[in-house]
Amino acid sequence: MTRTILIAGPTGLIGTTTVQQALADPQVGQVIALTRRPIGTTHPKLTEWTAPGDDLLAGLRPQQVDAVICCLGTTIHNVGGDKARFIHVDKDLVVGLGRWAKANGVPVMSVVSAIGADAGSGVFYNRVKGEMERDLKAMGLPTLHLFHPSILTGPRQEKRTGERIGIAVATLLSPLLPDRYKPMPHDVLAKALLRSTQVTQSGTHSYRSIRSLASG
Ligand SMILES: NC(=O)c1ccc[n+]([C@@H]2O[C@H](COP(=O)([O-])OP(=O)(O)OC[C@H]3O[C@@H](n4cnc5c(N)ncnc54)[C@H](OP(=O)(O)O)[C@@H]3O)[C@@H](O)[C@H]2O)c1
Repeated sequence: MTRTILIAGPTGLIGTTTVQQALADPQVGQVIALTRRPIGTTHPKLTEWTAPGDDLLAGLRPQQVDAVICCLGTTIHNVGGDKARFIHVDKDLVVGLGRWAKANGVPVMSVVSAIGADAGSGVFYNRVKGEMERDLKAMGLPTLHLFHPSILTGPRQEKRTGERIGIAVATLLSPLLPDRYKPMPHDVLAKALLRSTQVTQSGTHSYRSIRSLASG
C-alpha cells in the first residue's frame, strides 16, 4: 500500500531534498507540500497546500495522512533579529503542526530540530528548539521522531556566509570531532527522515542513529 506524506518547509535545504526523495520512493503514493510559496516543481504525486503570509497552518486541510515530516525553520538573521518571529517559525508553527497531526490521527511525526536542543538552555536557539520538543512530547503523539543534526551540508541557494565558514571548519575538523558534532549531509538526513516515518517507536536521533536510519 502506498503512503501519503506531508512535508512542511519543502522549499528549504533539507525540505527540498526530502520532497525529491519522497517523490522518487515507490512506497509513497502522495506527497503534500505545506508551503507559503510555490515549490517550483511539478509531479503527478505532488500536491501543494499553500498558505501565503505568516500563518502556514492556515494551509492545513482535513485529509488523512500517514506521516508528517517537519523541515521548518528560520535563522535570527532572516527575521531581522526579531526573536518573536523566530519563535513563531521554529516553535509555534512546529507545535501547531503537531496539534494538527494529533487531531487528525497521524501515526508518525518526524521533526528536524538541532543538536543542543534544551528547554533549559541559556542559548536562545537551543532553548527555542528545546521548548518546541518539550511541547511536542507533551502532546502524546503516537510516534514522534526528533532529529538532532549538527551543521547541514548541501547546495544552498541563499548566501549564508557564517554558515559556509562553519561548514568549512567543521568539515576540516570532522575526523577529530565527536560524532554528534560532525557535519551532516542533507541527503543523508532526508533519507533518515523518510525512513523514520516507517519506524513506530519514538526516538531522538543524532549523528549515528541518523546515519543508521538512512542506511537501514
Ligand atoms: N542548516 C543547518 O545547518 C541546520 C543544522 C541543524 C538543524 N537545522 C534545522 O533544520 C531545519 C531545516 O533547516 P534548513 O537549513 O533546511 O532550513 P531552510 O533552508 O532555511 O528552510 C526552512 C524552511 O522553512 C520555511 N519557512 C521559514 N519561515 C517560514 C514562515 N514564516 N512560514 C512558513 N514557512 C517558513 C522556508 O520557507 P521559505 O522558502 O518560503 O522561506 C523553508 O521551506 C531547521 O529547523 C533548522 O533549524 C539546520
